[in-house]
Amino acid sequence: MPISLRIQKAFGYGGRNHPWRRPWFTALARASARRTGGVVFLEDDALLDQLRAELGLPPGRRAEEYLAELRADEPLREAFDRARRERGFDEDPDWDTRVERLRGIAVVYYGLMREFRPQVVVETGTAAGGYTAFVLAALKHNGAGRLISIDIPPVAGRLTMDKTIDPGSIGYLLPEGYRDVWTYVQGDAKRHLPRILAEEEVDVFIHDSLHTRTHMLFEYAVARALLGEGKLVLSDDIMWNNAFNDFLASNRLTGYSPYSKPGTGVFVNRFDDRERAAGIGLVPHEQGG
Ligand SMILES: C[S@@+](CC[C@H](N)C(=O)[O-])C[C@H]1O[C@@H](n2cnc3c(N)ncnc32)[C@H](O)[C@@H]1O
Repeated sequence: MPISLRIQKAFGYGGRNHPWRRPWFTALARASARRTGGVVFLEDDALLDQLRAELGLPPGRRAEEYLAELRADEPLREAFDRARRERGFDEDPDWDTRVERLRGIAVVYYGLMREFRPQVVVETGTAAGGYTAFVLAALKHNGAGRLISIDIPPVAGRLTMDKTIDPGSIGYLLPEGYRDVWTYVQGDAKRHLPRILAEEEVDVFIHDSLHTRTHMLFEYAVARALLGEGKLVLSDDIMWNNAFNDFLASNRLTGYSPYSKPGTGVFVNRFDDRERAAGIGLVPHEQGG
């Protein structure tokens, strides 16, 4: 395991004295990840700056501005309040606290989506739709883009889930007014993900379904192979095992994680000259059968 990941695990969810707050340490981790591939943990604004640079986007807004946008998002706030009232959703006492608690996640799922302005996003794993709601809000605020979610309704004790949600209530944290850009596909990602990624021009893939090493590596590999170059791959729960880091390392890619929420990771899909020359796209039927 690379030193960056070992230290992140040892220090847990970074406090004031976390090594990642030291610029020299971040520089060291970046240099090491550049050499071997792997994940680098950054402050929210540094993460946005890094991804803008890699995506060729102009300088943009600060993380705090995106968090303010989320706090001011009335449909999201109302859906959250309704879930508390009607379903006993008790992860956070109020919407402002939720945005603050999830800030690193919100920066990636909302801020980055506002910057990157994807046309098509595909995610695996929806359940109540907590992070899905951030993505849908970004698409609505962008005025463009749609989200396809592939999900098996969660049952407590199965597929790493601790709660049951009946199929009719999936995504209950999603505002009604945001659902016109949302398509829900019920079923196993192993079945639907390769098909959908092959059929659609996808800009962003988000993994948040089954967090086993085998399944995570499967989804990352399918996404890498079927998304074009310069597209984004996001993942939740990258600390459950080392799959995210190992995948990056085995492809000599650098990924990033907000150190306030190091369970979330993101990387830009890139290929080397050899792979580009051999061919990285899907071969058309008329040539490949
Ligand atoms: C951690 S939850 C997703 C949380 C969600 N992204 C959010 O924003 O709140 C994981 C979801 O993935 C589903 N799931 C597990 N294995 C799956 C698989 N193989 N294919 C599709 N969905 C799966 C679970 O049933 C559950 O609904």
